[in-house]
Amino acid sequence: MNSTKLSIVDLTKRYAPGLEPAVDRLNMSVEEGHLVALLGPSGCGKTTTLRMVAGLMDPTSGSIVVDGKDITHTPVNKRGMGMVFQSYALFPHMDVAQNVAFGLQMRKVPAKEQAKRVAAALDMVQLGHLAKRKVRELSGGQQQRIALARALVVEPTLLLLDEPLSNLDAKLRETMRTEIRSIQQRTGATTLFVTHDQDEALDMADRIAVMNGGLIEQFGPPTEVYERPNTHFVANFIGQANFLTANVVSENGPATDGERYYKVDIEGLGTFGAVGHPGLTGTHELVIRPQRLQASLHAPLGANSITGTIERVSYTGDTLGFSVRAGERLLHAQLMTSSADMPRQGDTAHLSWEAADAYIIPKTPQGPAS
Ligand SMILES: Nc1ncnc2c1ncn2[C@@H]1O[C@H](COP(=O)(O)OP(=O)(O)OP(=O)(O)O)[C@@H](O)[C@H]1O
Ligand SMILES: [Mg+2]
Repeated sequence: MNSTKLSIVDLTKRYAPGLEPAVDRLNMSVEEGHLVALLGPSGCGKTTTLRMVAGLMDPTSGSIVVDGKDITHTPVNKRGMGMVFQSYALFPHMDVAQNVAFGLQMRKVPAKEQAKRVAAALDMVQLGHLAKRKVRELSGGQQQRIALARALVVEPTLLLLDEPLSNLDAKLRETMRTEIRSIQQRTGATTLFVTHDQDEALDMADRIAVMNGGLIEQFGPPTEVYERPNTHFVANFIGQANFLTANVVSENGPATDGERYYKVDIEGLGTFGAVGHPGLTGTHELVIRPQRLQASLHAPLGANSITGTIERVSYTGDTLGFSVRAGERLLHAQLMTSSADMPRQGDTAHLSWEAADAYIIPKTPQGPAS
């Protein structure tokens, strides 16, 4: 059974009158037990949103509703939320157990129960054996887990994580994201997870909120946000993308999930198959992911094919990326490597796609693409 845990309604924050709002009438509904990633570039309002949900900052307007109750003006210590901030803000003079117990002390939980819950929280992050260590004698990853244990120990109804992995090296980040996700699923804590790392969001989240300039541009499951971006910004921010300006020529019947096939014209290149919302007309952008382009060095592979010259090849071991120039356009393709047929700079290549992989972005582009 899914029920709404958190609703954010028209939430707005202006740091000063006359300033552009840092968060601008933001709306979002989070289901119980979900992990939602707030994803977006620096300065788009992620931390501001999280701080308002936590009660660390008053909104200028709008409201926050948890379990059907308006908590917009509930003080931070009455919200029952757990938080981990970018800098873990652990107390360096205390040992690990004292750090984790802090929230329980504030809540005047009896000492015996405190000890039990601290031990359980430390077990959860697999650091029970370090309970007596001083925080400054821990590695970054261990400190990160202590911060998480400290947030979990109060059994929060909502867990708020602001870039909790940003101080860790790449390898540890990956381990920790698996660990956080599995703890989150085990405890069922509804979680808001701020990140500017698209892979982290795609890997961990039940839903992704892609933010831009204080607004959510798209809210949906990772596959939807990646495969069916609503805007140029979303398509560009998540993953690699080829963009082509296309004019809708005709609608060509139903595709899956209520979408339609279209014939589109790409100036100077001809007509191609694509897919999109029903009822599209006029000029739009097509987005095609590099790994959805098929490539042939010999002959076009069928319809929807563009011929060009390979301008750059990049070999990363697992994949082979290459850029193909067709007139003014540069298309990026990505293949799994194989020992056969290595394309070379200067070779002719034919790139083609399935109509279902060329998605017509529903919003008409406004002026030059940003
Ligand atoms: N105390 C403040 N006073 C005035 N403006 C602020 C203040 N804090 C943040 N801002 C501005 O509000 C906007 C949103 O900031 P916020 O910290 O929410 O961004 P963010 O998405 O968390 O970015 P980052 O990824 O860099 O952490 C930014 O333009 C920022 O400069
Ligand atoms: Mg931030």
